[in-house]
Amino acid sequence: MRDILPRERAIWRVAEKAAAEVARSFGYEEMVTPVIEHADLIERVGEDTDAVAKELYRFDDRGGRNLALRPEATAGVVRAYFEGGLSQGPQPSRLYLIGPMFRYDRPQKGRYRQFFQFNVEAIGVGSAALDAEVIELAAGWLHGVGLGELRMELNSIGDAKCRPAYLERLQAYYRPFKSQLHGDCQLRLESNPLRLLDCKVAQCQPFKTGAPRITDHLCEECSAAWAEVQVLVDAAGIEYQLNPHLVRGLDYYTRTVFEFYRASATGQQDALASGGRYDGLAEAEGWPPTPGVGFAGGLDRVTELMAASGEEVIAPPPADVVVLADGDLDVAAADVARICRTVRSVAVDYDRKSLRAKMRSANKLGARWVVLIGAKDAERRIAQLRVMASGEQVEVAWVDLPAQLA
Ligand code: HAM
Repeated sequence: MRDILPRERAIWRVAEKAAAEVARSFGYEEMVTPVIEHADLIERVGEDTDAVAKELYRFDDRGGRNLALRPEATAGVVRAYFEGGLSQGPQPSRLYLIGPMFRYDRPQKGRYRQFFQFNVEAIGVGSAALDAEVIELAAGWLHGVGLGELRMELNSIGDAKCRPAYLERLQAYYRPFKSQLHGDCQLRLESNPLRLLDCKVAQCQPFKTGAPRITDHLCEECSAAWAEVQVLVDAAGIEYQLNPHLVRGLDYYTRTVFEFYRASATGQQDALASGGRYDGLAEAEGWPPTPGVGFAGGLDRVTELMAASGEEVIAPPPADVVVLADGDLDVAAADVARICRTVRSVAVDYDRKSLRAKMRSANKLGARWVVLIGAKDAERRIAQLRVMASGEQVEVAWVDLPAQLA
């Protein structure tokens, strides 16, 4: 976990503002859910996933409840969609959320234990057009923050109707090679065979090429949705590669899955944004069956790339005006600051150091003006207004300060 200091926040603000703007432009509304959920909710929707099985921050609270820091937002957003009555409103509910997620992963560049997502969900309508819509929204956000050269990978992983038969085919294909797979994959072969396809271990790679492709074994409905998604993503002018091995790390996906990478990314770089359809998730949480689709973008990775690609975001100075008094004049300084604050941001230097030292720190802060108050000036309710860029200084009555600073 890490701190994000004021100078870094400037670039984060640009990324978050772009997220909010593009989401609103597609008709998505912001919501917030707690960072803590019942562990049960999270576990029910992702028992077999790394984020839940190996990386969940779980604890008992003082009331003996078994809780978890959310590893992702979708499970909580779906819970809130039902609990908050959104399921009774116009459908789909188009929702977005920006906030921290927690995974006890091995920390490294671009991968943190507390990280931030821009999470987007369209819940309540099963149309494949919404799959394309959230893909277009994700691409729009990444373009908007200057990361336009993208590679999108797209796949369909079928649904509860067609996937079981495909998984049997996949197992039948892999079984003769079982002893040549690495340990985890030998276990996956029986417990979660789909994950064989996204194994990154070298010894398992040769077997992938000959593996049956799920897109060759989709049921009629999944097949039609798969075709429609591609037509719509094409129409949106978004380039993509079909990747039959893309299955995603979370269990709840059905049909469309996708991931966005930097075009220049090679090998095993991390995705900037990723998501897909999750038509079985609501039911897995114990609600009526309800379709949904969405994605999450990683703000940590996106802001890192924005900074690396030379995106120059100059943090504005914390205050336009610094008020400083010569000596013990806190009341006068606070009065003057209050007057100036009607038109400008103002910080007061209450330190008991010399006037020279106070001028130096006002300069370091980047203030445009300094308002100096001496004991005699204070009695007459006047001050010295200094324009930092030119060094020019004039005497101004307190009441006239707003006009001078406007
Ligand atoms: P995810 O692929 O696990 O999907 O995460 C989405 C994005 O969050 C990733 O593409 C990456 O940019 C970022 N991310 C994930 N883990 C980390 C980490 N440890 N450090 C920094 N960034 C990270 C989900 O979370 C799904 N809930 C997305 C979704 C929404 N699917 C449907 N709706």
